[in-house]
Amino acid sequence: MDLETFAPGSGRLEPRAALRSDAPALDLDGLWRFRLSPVADVPDDFARPGFDDSAWDELPVPAHWPLHGHGAPAYTNVSYPFPVDPPHVPDENPTGDYRRAFDLPDGWSGGRLRFEGVDSFARVWLNGHELGFSTGSRLPVEFDAGPWLRPGRNVLAVRVHQWSAASYLEDQDMWWLPGIFRDVTLTRSAADVFVHASHDGRLSFEAAAGLLSIPELGVRDLEPGVEITVEAEPWTAETPRLYEAVLTTPHETVRLRVGFRTVSVEDGVLLANGRPLLLKGVNRHEFHPDHGRAVPYGTMREDVLLMKRHNVNAVRTSHYPPHPDFLDLCDELGLWVVDECDLETHGFGQVGWRRNPTDDPRWADALLDRMRRMVERDKNHPSVIMWSLGNEAGAGRNLAVMADWTRERDPSRPLHYEGDWSCAHTDVYSRMYATHAEVEAIGRGEEEPLDDPALDARRRAMPFLQCEYAHAMGNGPGGLAEYQELFERFPRLAGGFVWEWIDHGLTDPRHEYAYGGDHGEPVHDGNFVIDGLVFPDRTPSPGLLDLKKVFEPVRFEFGDGVVRVVDRHDFRDLAHLAFEAVVEDDGRPVARFPLAVPPSGGEVKLPDPPPPADGAGERWLTVRATLAGDQPWAPAGHELAWSQTRLPSPALPAAAAGTEVRPETSGGRLTLGGGEFDPRTGRLLRLFGLDVEGPRLDLYRAPTDNDRYGGLGRRWRALGLHRLTHRVDGVRTGDGLTVRTRVAPAATDLGMRVTWTWTAPGGDALDLTVDVEPEGEWPDPIPRLGVLLVLPGELAHVTWFGRGPGEAYPDTGMAARVGRWSATIDDLQTPYVYPQENGRRADVRWAEFGGPAGTPGFRVAGETAFGLTARRWSTAELEAARHRPDLVPGDRVHLHLDLAQQGIGTATCGPGALPRYDLHATSATLRLRFTRS
Ligand code: GAL
Repeated sequence: MDLETFAPGSGRLEPRAALRSDAPALDLDGLWRFRLSPVADVPDDFARPGFDDSAWDELPVPAHWPLHGHGAPAYTNVSYPFPVDPPHVPDENPTGDYRRAFDLPDGWSGGRLRFEGVDSFARVWLNGHELGFSTGSRLPVEFDAGPWLRPGRNVLAVRVHQWSAASYLEDQDMWWLPGIFRDVTLTRSAADVFVHASHDGRLSFEAAAGLLSIPELGVRDLEPGVEITVEAEPWTAETPRLYEAVLTTPHETVRLRVGFRTVSVEDGVLLANGRPLLLKGVNRHEFHPDHGRAVPYGTMREDVLLMKRHNVNAVRTSHYPPHPDFLDLCDELGLWVVDECDLETHGFGQVGWRRNPTDDPRWADALLDRMRRMVERDKNHPSVIMWSLGNEAGAGRNLAVMADWTRERDPSRPLHYEGDWSCAHTDVYSRMYATHAEVEAIGRGEEEPLDDPALDARRRAMPFLQCEYAHAMGNGPGGLAEYQELFERFPRLAGGFVWEWIDHGLTDPRHEYAYGGDHGEPVHDGNFVIDGLVFPDRTPSPGLLDLKKVFEPVRFEFGDGVVRVVDRHDFRDLAHLAFEAVVEDDGRPVARFPLAVPPSGGEVKLPDPPPPADGAGERWLTVRATLAGDQPWAPAGHELAWSQTRLPSPALPAAAAGTEVRPETSGGRLTLGGGEFDPRTGRLLRLFGLDVEGPRLDLYRAPTDNDRYGGLGRRWRALGLHRLTHRVDGVRTGDGLTVRTRVAPAATDLGMRVTWTWTAPGGDALDLTVDVEPEGEWPDPIPRLGVLLVLPGELAHVTWFGRGPGEAYPDTGMAARVGRWSATIDDLQTPYVYPQENGRRADVRWAEFGGPAGTPGFRVAGETAFGLTARRWSTAELEAARHRPDLVPGDRVHLHLDLAQQGIGTATCGPGALPRYDLHATSATLRLRFTRS
């Protein structure tokens, strides 16, 4: 077989819509016989019905064979894992032979063999007769089985090659995972239909034969090509109203769900049903940690539910059409979809785009074939509002071939493609990872002009979207709120899609989750495949919680005794929501009121809360919007939006009672309040009877992915921030204890003068003032400015008043609200698949540490709020870890109390932290009070 052909397939039937038909069908999923060969050139005698496959293994269909003990998965982002020499492929070409016998029910005749997805090149035989071959891994294909079916037992044989010329078209950033990974059926359905239903009620359809009925709308036996107008509620992602339709043909009855909606572009604004549409989207790869891209239905549903529950309203099916069931779920539960063609040739970028298939006419058929199969399959989904020609496939004439055909076939949906910034073949201007500044310029219509004035004028009239932004790799992304503010400010900006939904970590016995290189791949891109908003097991990461906050469809603006409630839905009002206000003193609820908010929002008076008690602490008011009743995607009570404001409360009584205590030295120890110090070095040795180390100045953090890829991490290490030296310059006792130190890395004259002033204000309380004064010109932002105190491991619990419950950094943590929170030290960790700085709690006023009964606990309070991180390993251990299991708890708790930290940004792809979130070395003071708790 010629694996190096440009042809996309042979012997295939015309593509058609994915439909639910009452025509008989045989499900051919299940256990097949399977044999893997390391090369393509092996005899194909296995296709004979009488071939003895009893010595073969069994393999489930759908599945990827490398996830079932045959060969291994491999991950590359841009690079092809074989030489770039199209259309040639390596001799080492894993080839999977599949066999399955099935019995035809009595009276069965004719039918089509339908494969929903085979990665990558499939050659198919039925009863020893070759039906043809197909490429296009994430696209369906049908072969006419009729002439070769026989009564009773039939034998289906499929040979799947991992590599073929078509592999050059499938260079998406993901695992290479061959196999029959979507369903296989023998169906007697042959119908096709294209329903046109717009938001103004216009309805028509195209079909070779058949009559269409929508009983709920009184539509009966509509003929193809006839347009009528009905009274229908429009479909939107917020109100996904579907109508059951029935197409009756002489041979079968097809059921489909019709949504009435219209997408258009007017005055450079993207509209749905005539109203501006703001895409609050994510990029979704199909992924399951055990099954790769063979995603179970329940998992697809879970994805849609999770998205809806996190205020996501749109999904880009990066970078191929998903399993058709996923689009049904988007129709049903409500998500706007950019459906993307299975095309990426990114690796040609590494060779100057020479011989890029996108610009080579010999590949035109293959590219067009992919577009046709997507559009034909998915054309009836109201959720699909744009067709995307593919991803990162460079520019070239074949884009025109794809676009021209699509426009002709389906003028109702705008075309998207990011890889050609001239937008010659698209209807929207799309980019990825543009900075905030550039997005703002585009929002204003002030982008850099294109050389070609005609194209420039065309592009200037287009809406703009970021098909990828806010790269959610590891800790982050930072800067989400600032992007959203721009998207909401400029009508031209139609929003975008965060990169990406899920970490593609494959379940691994040693590493818990594997990424590139863990299977010994010679060429790989490490953990770049771990860049999702949810962890591989779909636990939301802090980034998703932040995204939920930023995407809230309700906004609250506080005034004097009032809150203004703003409806930020694109289509629906607030009638389905319940509102309440909660008042808390020092994080303890003291009052709770329902709020009567009109459906259109507006100003609402806040009830007067009870007067605060003396010493009750900070008073905060939280307003919340929750679902008043169950929705198909979340139960009543699910929170959509919240906001907080601080209310006046009496100041806390001044400093602790009692008279200041002076230091005393005895037995080689200096005692001051609850602290015992080394009188020579001034080092704290015991705090309230606990053995401690430190506090020491701390300027470092285990670099985040964004720190590493953005270059800051390397510069911090070059400067030596991970190996500070600490020198004591003077110890003085008087009213208290004053220790002067100089903290600096080796091999530089930069440093920090740090003065530690300890006093005992009464009882055994201990006050610490840390004055930091930088010396020299510090060239870069520094990771953190704070102190590190190492505590006994028994201190396993912490309660704090500040922002929580989750982590927060200067440009992340929008989801963290002020309150009283408790956690174990273990729970404070955010388990990023690639370990890195994490788990910081922000704006902490006080924190209490405790352990089992009998362990002395203590409380630390800041004069101003501080950042808190506590873990059972050191920063060095965190930095050295490569996978979750590398982090082994030690017998100490490393407590970091920060004045400030550097922002997170999204420099793995895109901009670093905005300048306002940079932490520069400056003089600073941290004031802490330690008391026994
Ligand atoms: C984009 C690409 C994505 C992914 C991302 C980085 O360039 O379209 O597929 O590779 O970068 O994670």
